[in-house]
Amino acid sequence: MAAQAQTIEVPTDAELLQAQADLWRHSLYYLSSMGLRCAVELEIPTAIHRLGGAVTLPDLMSALSLPSAKMPFLRRVMCVLVTSGIFAADSDSGSEVIYRLTPLSRILVHGVVADEHHSQKYFVLGVTSPHYTEAAMGLAGWFKKDHEPPVPSPFEDIFGVPLCDDRTPLLDKELDDVVTQGLAAHDNLGIATVMRECHDLFKGLDSLTDCGGGDGTTARAIIKAYPHIKCTVLDLPKVVDKAPTDGVVTYVAGDLFHSVPSAQAVMLKLVLHFWSDEDCVKILAQCKKAIPSREEGGKIIIIEIVVGPSLGPIMFEAQLLMDMLMMVNSKGRQRDENEWSKLFTKAGFTDYKIVKKLGARCVIEVYP
Ligand SMILES: C[S@@+](CC[C@H](N)C(=O)[O-])C[C@H]1O[C@@H](n2cnc3c(N)ncnc32)[C@H](O)[C@@H]1O
Repeated sequence: MAAQAQTIEVPTDAELLQAQADLWRHSLYYLSSMGLRCAVELEIPTAIHRLGGAVTLPDLMSALSLPSAKMPFLRRVMCVLVTSGIFAADSDSGSEVIYRLTPLSRILVHGVVADEHHSQKYFVLGVTSPHYTEAAMGLAGWFKKDHEPPVPSPFEDIFGVPLCDDRTPLLDKELDDVVTQGLAAHDNLGIATVMRECHDLFKGLDSLTDCGGGDGTTARAIIKAYPHIKCTVLDLPKVVDKAPTDGVVTYVAGDLFHSVPSAQAVMLKLVLHFWSDEDCVKILAQCKKAIPSREEGGKIIIIEIVVGPSLGPIMFEAQLLMDMLMMVNSKGRQRDENEWSKLFTKAGFTDYKIVKKLGARCVIEVYP
């Protein structure tokens, strides 16, 4: 064993003061998350929207029916949320501060559909819920346990059931409802952007299976833009049972590990990050069986995070936090390009191309 170091490099005064502030920030970021949760629970984004997009604190207090004694406290929370970019604020010197929505708080306005997506309210309520935070707080204890494979996620280790499982409602029905609604809102955010930015993706296709396509929201957006594409959605029976019956999309109840309906292309949008590498290879192999050769236009379309620093530190941090979210709550993970490439090769594909970077996510085509 290496000898224990008795001394440590002493930071300069400037480094020490910066380190102290950074320590405060990193230790206290949970208060920023909880401030966001508080704003969502109080419906502050929706209230600002209803008041015309710009409000003073007294107007906000009155719209939210909060006791006036709480005004100085709400001002302090709003100050943190403005600093985090969740709201904007402006004031002429001496006059009342005016709070406004930012792009971030606009996607938290509830009860309006903008650009085909819904409010992200339930995503925030899910990921900041007591169950998620308790699972994350158990991380060190989970690391120390010598689990037999398959290693459960910290969430499953603490609560005895996995998240997003048939047994989750037995653990807590309210949590399961919030997570289901949060996932739907999260997954549907940005469909319109995909349709605008990725014309070539669907050009020339006559049929597409959206594997794990949920309620068919994505398939419907594709059909709206490309009415000639015959779209099939494969999902679990419990999801397909609740799907619309208007015939726009063909729904197939099944299991993507067993069989995938044939089509010229198969789409896996935000599905693979939930599964282990071994499971992803099995899913991809089933998808490969469902498509024709590359010459006949056969391809898999994957929409997922491709982790990497190329988009700058903010996007990279967001991607890494999404990876840690998967680690704490599921057996899945986010992957970098090298890890994606290895999965494609293992599943028998010959080539792939990242066709578009859309924020923190990428659109990948994988060829048989
Ligand atoms: C995170 S959601 C993604 C939904 C959709 N692709 C989207 O982007 O909106 C994962 C989907 O996979 C479905 N799923 C999970 N396990 C499945 C299985 N074994 N067979 C088919 N679908 C499955 C879930 O029901 C859910 O709808």
